[in-house]
Amino acid sequence: MASEDKREELHVLLVAFSAQGHINPMLRLGKSLLTKGLHVTLATTELVYHRVFKPSTATDDDTVPTSITTNGIQVLFFSDGFGSSLKITSADEYMELIGKLGPLSLSSAIKTHFLDTSKKLACIINNPFVPWVADVAASFKIPCACLWIQPCALYAIYYRFYNNLDQFPTLQNPNMSVHLPGLPSLQPRDLPSFLLPSNPFGSFPKVLSEMFQHMKKLKWVLANSFHELEKEVIDSMANICPIRTVGPLVPPSLLGQDQSEDIGIEMWKPQDSCMEWLDHQPRSSVIYISFGSLIVLTAKQLESIASALKRSNRPFLWVIKPKEKDDILPLPQGFVEETKEQGMVVPWCPQTKVLVHPAIACFMTHCGWNSMLEAITAGTPMIGYPQWTDQPTNAKLISDVFGLGIRLEQDGEGFVGTEEVERAIEEMVVGPRAEEFRRKASELKRAAREAVADCGSSERNIQSFVDEIVGTSD
Ligand code: UDX
Repeated sequence: MASEDKREELHVLLVAFSAQGHINPMLRLGKSLLTKGLHVTLATTELVYHRVFKPSTATDDDTVPTSITTNGIQVLFFSDGFGSSLKITSADEYMELIGKLGPLSLSSAIKTHFLDTSKKLACIINNPFVPWVADVAASFKIPCACLWIQPCALYAIYYRFYNNLDQFPTLQNPNMSVHLPGLPSLQPRDLPSFLLPSNPFGSFPKVLSEMFQHMKKLKWVLANSFHELEKEVIDSMANICPIRTVGPLVPPSLLGQDQSEDIGIEMWKPQDSCMEWLDHQPRSSVIYISFGSLIVLTAKQLESIASALKRSNRPFLWVIKPKEKDDILPLPQGFVEETKEQGMVVPWCPQTKVLVHPAIACFMTHCGWNSMLEAITAGTPMIGYPQWTDQPTNAKLISDVFGLGIRLEQDGEGFVGTEEVERAIEEMVVGPRAEEFRRKASELKRAAREAVADCGSSERNIQSFVDEIVGTSD
């Protein structure tokens, strides 16, 4: 049978953790696989059904459907305890519950939707926070891949740490710098927070350990990045544990393609009025600020940014996502009122549209990888204000590897003073360094588009992945 004919019958199952930043890159990879003739199904948690897919007329007590279809992709839901009588009070408890309930529930969905039908499930792709999926795949003898959703640099660092390949800071030697192939020398402040001996987990977090333990069971490690961006570190892993870049997996509009082709989901409703406000701002003038979906800044941090913005007197668009929906923002009293001519504060915005708007000058970011990839593909320089996990290393990449901006000087508690924020804003908007960041941003924007275009590095990697799936399904 010709391989094109065979692809028509082959299915790939994507299994994603309940976070927008995990599901969207997965769906976008799924879209590429679809265009190459494979059938694609997404499995995610019941929580995502309730947050994203549940019709507005349904109640929390209604049963979750076994599957729905969105943009040509079938979506299955596995149990994470959502809606049960179990009380989940922390992220750790939630992770544990998914690890307990997920495997059985996903196995049963795989049986019903694939094994008991004539469909051929050729590959399962999971992402980091659901490492047990590799065991489920093995139990059905289905090859498994992982889509890594942070920079390849992070994959290399964790891999080397987990396998004791290099020296990292210890309680006895907490200030040592770390030298790894393909990366600049890393000071403790540049390392992922989980690797610091002082990290609150006390050791490598369980979910990361489990992930690297499961890596051995994976046939492919794919990454949401592109070769031209992280060439040295990717090449440094080639003979140890190769990683294939398939990104940037961002909305098509950021890559100059038709936005109607996008299949990403939105877990929060954006305040679209900020786009109209941006339309009235001068070109390259606005400081866009966002700390992603999880970070909640302290009142002291918010206050120092607020004062710097006021003092800079530059237009700003600031996303402050409240901890709970109706929380009052702990901004300095009168700030919003006093700066209403200068800027706008919103609880959530259409970030990918914002980043390509001509009024944007730069992006102050917590350095979440999705935000960074979106800024890179939009050609927007960045100010790094990292908080934890991969973010400190990502900030190091912005300043010392990608040359796309600066990282703020933080004190021991991660706090940044008003003067430092103000200095960074000025440096990013005017003067020779700002010019250089803009030049570098255009260069990488071009490279990102080339990577996903025909014959680009990511496109070729996706094609060879598909060819191997088709090959292994013989
Ligand atoms: C988490 C971790 O915090 C981060 O360190 C890791 O690299 C990825 O997973 P998150 O904090 O949500 O992610 O940040 P990020 O990866 O940047 O994703 C945020 C997403 O929300 C982006 O896709 C961004 O476009 C979107 N967003 C953000 C909006 O759509 N509107 C907003 O107002 C803010």
